[in-house]
Amino acid sequence: MLVEKNVPLQALNTFHIVAKAHTLVRIKEPADIGAVLADPELGPAPKFVLGGGSNIVLTGDVKPVVLKMEIKGMRLVSETARDWILEAGAGESWHDFVTWTLDNGYPGLENMAMIPGTVGAAPVQNIGAYGVELQDRFDALDAIDLHTGQTFTLNAAQCAFGYRDSVFKHCGLQSMGLKDRAVIVRVRFAVPKIWKTVLGYADIDKKMAEHQCRQPTARQLFDWVCAIRRAKLPDPEVIGNAGSFFKNPTVTQEQCADIIARDPKVVHYRMDDGSVKLAAGWLIDACGWKGKTVGQAGVYEKQALVLVNRGAGSDGNGATGGEVMTLAKAIQTSVYERFGILLEPEPVVV
Ligand code: EPU
Repeated sequence: MLVEKNVPLQALNTFHIVAKAHTLVRIKEPADIGAVLADPELGPAPKFVLGGGSNIVLTGDVKPVVLKMEIKGMRLVSETARDWILEAGAGESWHDFVTWTLDNGYPGLENMAMIPGTVGAAPVQNIGAYGVELQDRFDALDAIDLHTGQTFTLNAAQCAFGYRDSVFKHCGLQSMGLKDRAVIVRVRFAVPKIWKTVLGYADIDKKMAEHQCRQPTARQLFDWVCAIRRAKLPDPEVIGNAGSFFKNPTVTQEQCADIIARDPKVVHYRMDDGSVKLAAGWLIDACGWKGKTVGQAGVYEKQALVLVNRGAGSDGNGATGGEVMTLAKAIQTSVYERFGILLEPEPVVV
């Protein structure tokens, strides 16, 4: 086990915020976690699990021991009559895994191509895009309990997946949560052997019309999703960001009718349970936030739901976590004042 001190985190978070980890341990295999827990100094200390750093806002140096997840490996583990069961180490890049599944003949994850982050972080917020969420292709995961050192396996029901939510986002004191308690080490996916396209998203429909193609292959869908994301979302390598900064809020039909009466153009989607989901990007855009900045933190011009770091470069400057959060709070206030809706941030504030 290699313990590093005072490690710069700028390259390890996709916002490229400048901060340091007081102590960082690279976890290359599950046994490394056992070694950390057995260590007299590191064992009792608070821990912070870092994947691809694509869903965090660092507001200062990180004092808990950072466990940087680098467990690798992608393989077909078994099959059922219906599904291929595929497994990936928590430290694999999500997009590399999606690419591997296509290259090896196990399509089904292509709608989620190019989502930044690692495989291990994917279940934490039940990532999703273009009509497919991780929970739709999930089989089980292995995790290690940081209190006891025990390895355990959870199925989908035990992960309690919701919209950008899971048991890993909730504290044990309030509920059955596993926040700050479980480290995900491997994730298994069940990908149907009989592949079916998932369509019905405006952006994908546009691509089908453009290419005059009514029945795209998995590879075509993958290419389109990559192209759509490249066109409207900033590449974190070029402009620091953490993807969508707020969740799309859900309101009742009455609340939605109220908003439509005032703003007929509000983008909304009716859900199966009768509630209505609003496009947070549209709400923020309607409040005039596109392109606005606080210090070096800004609202992306092509997608108001994405906050960006305008200054991050190799020079070590750029937005602070404080600037990002000040901007986020100002957006929340103005959306609340105009629409009566409190937007909930997606990333974890550290
Ligand atoms: N819109 C605007 N102005 C904006 C942004 C969006 O009017 O500045 C409108 C769009 O025109 C569209 C609607 O809002 O009618 C929704 O926008 P979009 O299709 O871009 O999707 P989204 O709801 O903003 C969600 C996910 C994304 C995911 C896309 C596609 C959340 C919080 N975000 O975004 O996920 O890629 O759908 O499925 O659910 C992420 O979570 O980090 C993420 C990027």
